[in-house]
Amino acid sequence: MTTILVTGGAGFIGSNFIHLLVKDRPDARIVNLDALTYAGNLENLKEVEGQANYTFVQGDVASPEDVARAFDAAGESGVNHVVHFAAESHVDRSIQGGLPFVTANVLGTQVVLDEARKRGVERFLHVSTDEVYGSLGPTGFFTEETPLDPSSPYSASKAGSDMLVQAAFKTHGFPTLITRCSNNYGPYQFPEKLIPLMIANAREDKPLPVYGDGMQIRDWLYVQDHCEAILTVLEKGAPGEVYNIGGHNEYPNIEIVKGILGHLEKSEDLIEYVTDRPGHDRRYAIDASKIERELGWKPRYTFEQALPRTLEWYLSQDEWLQRVRSGAYRDYYQLQYGT
Ligand code: NAD
Ligand code: TYD
Repeated sequence: MTTILVTGGAGFIGSNFIHLLVKDRPDARIVNLDALTYAGNLENLKEVEGQANYTFVQGDVASPEDVARAFDAAGESGVNHVVHFAAESHVDRSIQGGLPFVTANVLGTQVVLDEARKRGVERFLHVSTDEVYGSLGPTGFFTEETPLDPSSPYSASKAGSDMLVQAAFKTHGFPTLITRCSNNYGPYQFPEKLIPLMIANAREDKPLPVYGDGMQIRDWLYVQDHCEAILTVLEKGAPGEVYNIGGHNEYPNIEIVKGILGHLEKSEDLIEYVTDRPGHDRRYAIDASKIERELGWKPRYTFEQALPRTLEWYLSQDEWLQRVRSGAYRDYYQLQYGT
């Protein structure tokens, strides 16, 4: 039996990944280590909670004691694989203050790497981002060889963590894998990121803040496709390698915002152009040919297919959204676990 330690499993992508594991790898045992910062929401995992092969450990990846406790929770047979999602993830928050990003993303990654190596983990997958490559002009794509050139404290801390992971491979021969993914969207995304924020504001007839001219381009990937790519790399990737993951879905922000308003039959008068984000990357676009060629993964959803699915999910999960927006979701851990 394979035991997988997932860090940051109560967040957006981590919780989608745990749902995928439960469905597609029912024999795997899962330990979820999450600090439950503002971005961690155990309500994302309600259906998984009671399962015998799932254990939740509240703890900070930057704390060696907490990380050791999570490994201990796997019991005698130990942890085979680590999938490391835990991070501070929002660029705007990193502009307000970079320190929590360095602590969680840089220090936290080294702590998890050290413990995983000590415990003889067989495969360590580090979930990174295309933002480590910086910004593109109107043409071209990021490949795995594109030099790292991060712009924000968030992306700089992710670049730092990537380098520590590479160092563990080069120095110690520790079997690491790195994935670098474009912008995700889908269920359970915290409504501070573009798509869920715009859906939530539009529903409440609140202004939709568009930074600068709204012509910044992102390459959107449905979270389910991302999670399947991560599982593919975990199981089939070559140690020491980096794999870019992208959706071939480039759109300017303003088109997405207008598309959401159109779907919800709301007026474009809700759009409010606001001061641009400092250091705002203009365009991201991923060349994902390596993972497609070497590991046979391809995204299954286009943006035209998965954006309506995503909108429907948020519309059908009004309670989830309201509890996140009001902060009530933060009481869930205490009610469930009683500490
Ligand atoms: P998220 O902010 O939704 O979730 C992060 C999770 O990590 C939360 O559950 C939080 O409680 C937990 N966490 C934060 N600091 C922690 C700490 N010190 N110790 C333990 N747990 C901690 O983030 P996400 O969007 O799910 O992103 C997950 C990973 O994927 C991140 O590493 C991010 O850099 C990367 N990524 C995200 C995207 C995207 O579009 N969302 C794209 C590419 C890469
Ligand atoms: P975001 O979801 O924060 O992801 P990232 O910065 O990691 O790409 O933002 C996506 C794009 O949307 C980015 O170009 C910034 C822009 N944006 C807005 O225009 N308004 C907003 O309120 C937010 C949150 C983002």
